[in-house]
Amino acid sequence: MTGLIVDFDPNHTDHTWEEITDGGYIRNHRPDGNTLYVVDICVSPPYRKLGLGKWLMQSMYEVVVHLGLDRLLGGGRMPGYHCYATELSPEAYINKVVAGELNDPVITFLLRCRRTPLAVVHNYLEDEESLNHAVLMEWRNPFKQMPRKN
Ligand SMILES: CC(C)(COP(=O)(O)OP(=O)(O)OC[C@H]1O[C@@H](n2cnc3c(N)ncnc32)[C@H](O)[C@@H]1OP(=O)(O)O)[C@@H](O)C(=O)NCCC(=O)NCCS
Repeated sequence: MTGLIVDFDPNHTDHTWEEITDGGYIRNHRPDGNTLYVVDICVSPPYRKLGLGKWLMQSMYEVVVHLGLDRLLGGGRMPGYHCYATELSPEAYINKVVAGELNDPVITFLLRCRRTPLAVVHNYLEDEESLNHAVLMEWRNPFKQMPRKN
């Protein structure tokens, strides 16, 4: 799992993975920023579904609290979407995953980690299975008071 700190404006959710992570090189890390942004998370296939991904995520939540940041944020791939793309918009697909009517290998995992969806971002990352869509998903620092999004 890799992350960087950025200064994020919750009123401007539209960005690509390339833009916010400096193409994955994270030379744009801002120690004085407000948001820990997840560049990537991956568990080796034989070790999946053992709780390791959730443990990694919770370690990053600890970093958010210790550094006094506002949130952890990241764009979640939606790799199950290509199976439903002819019948559902990306937003309708996500609504069904959030409602527990559909299961997505990444979004369901992020929901289980208590991440909450902020917005669907189109053309977030070149990703055949997600048809380039992603869901921006947040975990708020429970120890910080923040004004609500407009
Ligand atoms: C997404 C990923 C990191 C999950 O890691 P993991 O170690 O298997 O996840 P965990 O075992 O910690 O699972 C945590 C919870 O998510 C659920 N979950 C994990 N994978 C799931 C799946 N494929 N479908 C549904 N739920 C899933 C688990 O059941 C568990 O639920 P619980 O809290 O009710 O017990 C892993 O599948 C992966 O590396 N995928 C490929 C890389 C990738 O796409 N990363 C995301 C980039 S945005």
